[in-house]
Amino acid sequence: MKMTTLTATILIAGTAVTAFAHGGATGIVKERMDAMSAMGDAVKAVTPMMRGEVAYDAETLRDAARTFQEHSGDAMTKLFPEGSGGMPSEAKNAVWTDWDRFASLAEQLGEYAKGLERAAENGLGGMQSGSMMGGSSMMGDTGSMMGGSSMMGGSTMMSASDIAAMPADGAFNMTTQVCSACHSRFRAEED
Ligand code: HEC
Repeated sequence: MKMTTLTATILIAGTAVTAFAHGGATGIVKERMDAMSAMGDAVKAVTPMMRGEVAYDAETLRDAARTFQEHSGDAMTKLFPEGSGGMPSEAKNAVWTDWDRFASLAEQLGEYAKGLERAAENGLGGMQSGSMMGGSSMMGDTGSMMGGSSMMGGSTMMSASDIAAMPADGAFNMTTQVCSACHSRFRAEED
């Protein structure tokens, strides 16, 4: 009986902490969470299109690309001033101890998003299509990007023009991989 009460208390306390973590942010931490959430919503708006669940619409993808541009680069890094980690933020301390890498991923997102905006008019390439995969130099480059450490380090970043030459879905995948690359290193909790 006592045991049950104790467990219930812990559960309730745990819930309160979680609610605080997601709802209690203020100031700059709230600002960056809002910016990130706007990008998360943009990804959600585009994903069904990429899966072929709804008709492809270039303008929806361009909207998402602009949202990513708006919140990347300096616009993103200025929302992470030193000392703004800790509860309720999910930002890891590595943001500040490995700032150059963090900033370069923020930069990379902007660059790729510029390319993505232009790639929207290419339409879906169908990554499954044999001709697309048939060793064109563009896909070859992509392959080496994926295989290397460049995603994590941003050392051999592709240019906006490289991304713009890809089918829309390929460009979208490349762009969202930058989100994941940053989250896996710098964010305590994955979506
Ligand atoms: C340069 C690093 C970086 C990039 C690039 C990045 N994020 Fe984030 N993201 C973070 C960090 C760090 C947090 C945790 C922020 C905090 O809690 O203070 C975060 C948090 C989030 C959250 C949770 C927000 C909340 O309300 O707690 C979402 C959603 C998100 N990011 C989506 C995205 C999407 C989508 C992209 C790509 C289009 C992206 N992020 C690109 C670093 C990044």
